[in-house]
Amino acid sequence: MDRRDFLKAATFAAMGSMLGKGLAGGLSAFGQVDKANILVAYFSWSGNTRGIARQIQQQTGRDIFEIVPVKPYSTNYNTCLDEALRDQRGQARPPLKNLGENIGKYDVIFIGYPNWWASIPMPVAAFLESYDFSGKMLVPFCSHGGGRLGQSVAAIAKLCPNSTILEALSVHYSGGSSLPGDITAWLGRISLL
Ligand SMILES: Cc1cc2nc3c(=O)[nH]c(=O)nc-3n(C[C@H](O)[C@H](O)[C@H](O)COP(=O)(O)O)c2cc1C
Repeated sequence: MDRRDFLKAATFAAMGSMLGKGLAGGLSAFGQVDKANILVAYFSWSGNTRGIARQIQQQTGRDIFEIVPVKPYSTNYNTCLDEALRDQRGQARPPLKNLGENIGKYDVIFIGYPNWWASIPMPVAAFLESYDFSGKMLVPFCSHGGGRLGQSVAAIAKLCPNSTILEALSVHYSGGSSLPGDITAWLGRISLL
């Protein structure tokens, strides 16, 4: 995606942004997590979040799960912008293709998404509402075009009020060559490496 297109198409810069921190700092209060109970779940439209998810998976060795809506968003950027805005305004919950029964077994769920209109894409909301994540730890990571996390962490906290949200990672587009190191540092900070 062309960055100028994105900047032209929307007024994201004006939208609120949160600090690059989640609602909790790390796992010290929870003790050691069994690493078999960690999942990397993500939604990606143009591939950047997928690349970040794969890098997290590579570094943690954990299971990975792609959130896929039954009806894909348009591959045309401007049409996708419109569809995403329509879904966000209507707080749509697009049906998902591949909900697995075993998602509920994980204690720590990385949840990755592109910043869409300064928040989470609605398939991510649909995913989060499909399971009971009470008492679980959610670890957001977000690919963005300048708006960083936007309101996305607040949106996740609202959907999952009984989950603990660890420090979120925001990544500019694909993250470039510093991505592996940035992820290593972040995983270290949240004690998940
Ligand atoms: C529908 C849509 C809405 C977007 N809204 C924002 C936004 O509000 N703020 C922002 O910084 N980037 C925004 N972007 C840019 C994406 O967050 C960015 O391109 C991201 O890297 C895409 O990740 P993906 O390749 O995993 O889909 C938007 C992109 C699309 C397609």
